[in-house]
Amino acid sequence: MKTSTMSATSALPTTNKHLIRWVEKMADLTQPDSIHWVDGSQAEYDALCAGLVDAGTFTRLNQELWPGCYYARSSPNDVARVEDRTFICSLSKDNAGPTNNWEDPFVMRKKLKALFKGSMRGRTMYVLPYSMGPIGSPMSQIGVQLTDSAYAVVNMRIMARIGTPVFAEIDKDEKRVVPCMHSVGAPLVGGKKDVPWPCNEEKYIVHFPETREIWSYGSGYGGNALLGKKCFALRIASNIARDEGWMAEHMLIVGVESPDGEKTYVAAAFPSACGKTNFAMLIPPAGFEGWKVWTVGDDIAWIKPDSTGRLRAINPEAGFFGVAPGTSQKTNPNAMATLARNTIFTNVALTPEGGVWWEGMTDAPPPHLTDWRGNPWTPESATPAAHPNGRFTAPASQCPTIDPAWEDPNGVPISAFIFGGRRPQTIPLVYQAFNWSAGVYIGATMGSETTAAAGAPVGTVRRDPMAMLPFCGYHMGDYFRHWIRMQRNLTETPRVFHVNWFRKGPDGKFLWPGYSQNMRVLKWIVDRVRGRVRGKETPIGWTPKYTDINWNGLDFSYDQFSQLQAVDRETWKKEVMGHEELFISLHDHLPPEMIYERELLICRL
Ligand code: OXD
Ligand code: MN
Repeated sequence: MKTSTMSATSALPTTNKHLIRWVEKMADLTQPDSIHWVDGSQAEYDALCAGLVDAGTFTRLNQELWPGCYYARSSPNDVARVEDRTFICSLSKDNAGPTNNWEDPFVMRKKLKALFKGSMRGRTMYVLPYSMGPIGSPMSQIGVQLTDSAYAVVNMRIMARIGTPVFAEIDKDEKRVVPCMHSVGAPLVGGKKDVPWPCNEEKYIVHFPETREIWSYGSGYGGNALLGKKCFALRIASNIARDEGWMAEHMLIVGVESPDGEKTYVAAAFPSACGKTNFAMLIPPAGFEGWKVWTVGDDIAWIKPDSTGRLRAINPEAGFFGVAPGTSQKTNPNAMATLARNTIFTNVALTPEGGVWWEGMTDAPPPHLTDWRGNPWTPESATPAAHPNGRFTAPASQCPTIDPAWEDPNGVPISAFIFGGRRPQTIPLVYQAFNWSAGVYIGATMGSETTAAAGAPVGTVRRDPMAMLPFCGYHMGDYFRHWIRMQRNLTETPRVFHVNWFRKGPDGKFLWPGYSQNMRVLKWIVDRVRGRVRGKETPIGWTPKYTDINWNGLDFSYDQFSQLQAVDRETWKKEVMGHEELFISLHDHLPPEMIYERELLICRL
């Protein structure tokens, strides 16, 4: 390490002694060649991107077609989050629960120290301060990521608020700072030449909930490397939220505006790969003239009761890290407009003109591409041009439907929670829970049918409570208890709904057109929240009557709707048996309300 970098403390952008000492200590451990304190400026971003182009990590895209955009290809062994390498190292194994990997924190620290020792040799260590949530918002949280990946820094600049203003926040010494260590685990020693995507075969994504620390080793990709996202905003934040009486949820947030300007905000949890970004950027269909859907966030919501007992939510992120394949002018024009400039694309395909392409972007694929592995590709190729988890990192501010209040430091008021999954059978298009605890039961038992991509047998339902299975940083049973308790401090309880865009008929075809047509369901939800429609009682909850849905602009018959909304008692009894499986594994932490709700449901069936 160039010692001058540390000894000239007067030139440092922070006066916080704890931070400076920690950076020194971590530099001693990881032994980088130099230290770069990130200011977050455009000039710094441009210089880092130019460096990534020189290193072969980035390709600058054709600036006429894709202004301000870059393209990266990862190593084929570093393409997604690694759930089996993700650990919650609470002091007691019981606190992590059966749905998380656990290791004794003492043992894990020893392991990590050995891995990080000298891991940044030959590289620069970036000191990256970031705020999750608008800087200065009472709902925001601060982290500092030490990383040897410039790719992580430039992506984090899009995904979070970073740099000088965050150092200023840290210097106020009003908020606890979450320390985040990140190394790609590829030191440059003995004249070793760098590669475009350095990483390590061995990966560890580790969370220490009690000390609120994150240590990530061996990966430069997405949620493994952009530590503000899943690691902080969900796994660590879920712990902070439980302790402080708020909620850190894997939820999108949208505002629904009626033609007369009435605005209703809802938050929705769908498992990964169920179209959250599409729903967050929904454009109302024909027949909904004057209606608008505003985007607050597409992935994470931090939700807190305000002084009047109403839940308010912020999106802690500043960008979208979206799955590219399947995104098109037809499926999500707002996403296409958002990613048209100042975006980083990773693991999609490159066109000969210096543009990007992915499966589903256009009906017909271009005749020649370079695929995400860097090989020539034609439509006859046996493998996809873009990796199925190829991503865009795009600024939220560029979204045409970004809500005017998306950066309100006090958040937006939440009137409803929506849960959903990919369920070809059994589950109707939409139903509403009878009350809060029934709603918590619906969230706790939600699931999605596995697709071929998941590696599991196709057609089995994977339970994914509140879409938090890979993201809850403590015992899932205690998490349900926290949900139950949240209501106690509320004067206005949000209504809870379940949706399923994916129900199929006996012919295997989807019964519902989905996408923009989901607005019809959203409007019914708003009407219910506002007390404008009565609903029909069924054993599982309140459902819409055919005439309660606005059908303007869509030819959808009463019979089609009845098929889509059918609640078959026999199939539902089997469904409830499936709930038991998850509950058994959580039984010693399960709140009694979950057992009672299950019993009530069985009785009603
Ligand atoms: C994501 C996920 O990347 O949920 O957002 O997997
Ligand atoms: Mn997600």
